[in-house]
Amino acid sequence: MELSIQTTDALKPLPRDADLTFGTIFTDHMFNMDYDQKNGWHNPRIEPYQPIVMDPSTMVLHYGQSIFEGLKAFKTSSGQIQVFRPEQNFARFNRSAQKLCMPPLDEAFALKAMMELLKVDKRWVPSTPGTSLYIRPTIIAMDPFIGVRASYTYRFFIIMSPVGAYYKEGFNPVKIWVTDQYVRAVRGGMGEVKTAGNYAASLYAGEEAHRIGYTQVLWLDGVELKYIEEVGSMNIFFVIDDEIITPALSGSILSGITRDTVKLLAEKWGTPVTERRISIDELITAHESGKLQEVFGSGTAAVISPVGEIKYKDKIMKVGDGSVGKWSQKFFKAITDIQYGVAEDTDGWILPLD
Ligand code: COI
Repeated sequence: MELSIQTTDALKPLPRDADLTFGTIFTDHMFNMDYDQKNGWHNPRIEPYQPIVMDPSTMVLHYGQSIFEGLKAFKTSSGQIQVFRPEQNFARFNRSAQKLCMPPLDEAFALKAMMELLKVDKRWVPSTPGTSLYIRPTIIAMDPFIGVRASYTYRFFIIMSPVGAYYKEGFNPVKIWVTDQYVRAVRGGMGEVKTAGNYAASLYAGEEAHRIGYTQVLWLDGVELKYIEEVGSMNIFFVIDDEIITPALSGSILSGITRDTVKLLAEKWGTPVTERRISIDELITAHESGKLQEVFGSGTAAVISPVGEIKYKDKIMKVGDGSVGKWSQKFFKAITDIQYGVAEDTDGWILPLD
């Protein structure tokens, strides 16, 4: 398939690295490709960043048949631009597509198109440590139809946004609230894939968390409200009595790529992560006995985010001494050193832009 490239001369001013937050500014160009039953995926094109014009009846607006990915491009001190484990994102994208009854993409082609887009907009990759160009591939249902079924037509697009830290706390510990009332996902549902509805489902409890002074919600399983699942914007890890534990993928937890990176690094360092069910009661017991040493989240946007406080019902658990724990530090440094080219990529995780 021929990728067409149409660029604009009307380039936007670049933001200063120091002003970057998360997800508010977008680059000059985007990638678009369409799907219909007769032509399959067709008309791949890079063009100026622009609105998507759609009929008010367009299916994605009504029933949320939409999937997305999130990955990042980094600039090294020598000026090299590189992407971290992008094949994993496109593999997960196709798993999400399958669950949302969407046609699969040619992963290699989608990745190639993304790298071409990156080449066109490479001046947008910031270079200050902690900044990157966040890349958002998305597929949406495009049929103008308001009956409930899978759409017959789709749009695949990629947009890019220069970003700083996801949380306003940066790398300082965040406070999370465990809800015993709301659930994000249930086994057999959509929790394990990256679809818009999971994030819509998280908003109501998220607002409540903010009202009581917490940054994020830590979700329990949707059946018994007993076992810890994830944070929605990141997976979660606990260090209890020198053991690193993360909830086992249950079908309702997103299979995070940074989660997998933490597991692979820990294994390499001879301290493998235990994946198992962990209940909120076990966490409370560990805290009460002084064995809860560290809690941190992992995600593409969040990277490694230390957790300093967890609230569950009327119990407030302070984690560690309020500073960043040793494992959070170690994983954060190892991952970002590879991403920014400070450490050698011995695992084939880096795809450089040529
Ligand atoms: C990511 O970490 O890339 C995500 O997609 C999470 C989102 C909350 C920004």
